[in-house]
Amino acid sequence: MYTQEEIDNVNAKLKTPTDALKWAYETFGDKIAKASSFGAEDSVVTDMIIKINPKARFFTLDTGRLNQETYDVMDTISKKYKIKFEVLFPDRDAVEEMVREKGINLFYESVENRKLCCEIRKVRPLNRILSTLDAWVTGLRRDQNENRSKSSMVEIDHLHGGIIKINPIIDWSWENVMSYIKDHELPYNKLLDKNYPSIGCEPCTRPVKPGEDLRAGRWWWESDTHKECGLHIKH
Ligand code: ADX
Ligand code: SF4
Repeated sequence: MYTQEEIDNVNAKLKTPTDALKWAYETFGDKIAKASSFGAEDSVVTDMIIKINPKARFFTLDTGRLNQETYDVMDTISKKYKIKFEVLFPDRDAVEEMVREKGINLFYESVENRKLCCEIRKVRPLNRILSTLDAWVTGLRRDQNENRSKSSMVEIDHLHGGIIKINPIIDWSWENVMSYIKDHELPYNKLLDKNYPSIGCEPCTRPVKPGEDLRAGRWWWESDTHKECGLHIKH
């Protein structure tokens, strides 16, 4: 377990995403894994990680409601980098009970229902894998929303038992991400070409219009502007 002071000292020494990833993979060995939802940011961070550690672990939370484009890029990335993704599925009994009680498209009916679905399909599977890890890597960026604006490159994840969370491109802009993908000719989710700058589940994500916030397409029917599914809430 790290103290906040120790993590502040680590952050002070790290200048680039690669510095952070090198520190993380040297420190945590095989007890660290990258979480991927196959958005643009994940393409970038995956490429950076493989250059440092070709044997690194990657996991994804398959909610059962993802877009085909997401499965396609998972397959492409897996073949390109020879990654065997650890795919986590939600608990079968919990999904069956939820759907029986609340309906297959329950998320449109209330925020409570939507949060229940995210809890069962994403949050619990994430907790399951994080309980076996000492650290995890994300593609979070600070300017995605106010909640994320307080995040650092390396932080203590109080939501997940105090393990370490590495957000290597936390300082990057959307333009930085897209330039890296172009310059390095990375595989990316084809939903990006259809104006989906933020990618979640198929029924809960729509394309954004020019000038709209990059996360405006997520849970678009809800009015709250700081929408989160519960993976990245800060204590
Ligand atoms: S979310 O909380 O709103 O869904 P977002 O789509 O912005 O998150 O993704 C931010 C980061 O959270 C991703 O780069 C990835 O590290 C992690 N993440 C989000 N969804 C998943 C998922 N389904 N599987 C694995 N990691 C995920
Ligand atoms: Fe369920 Fe939508 Fe959350 Fe996916 S994003 S887990 S479909 S509520």
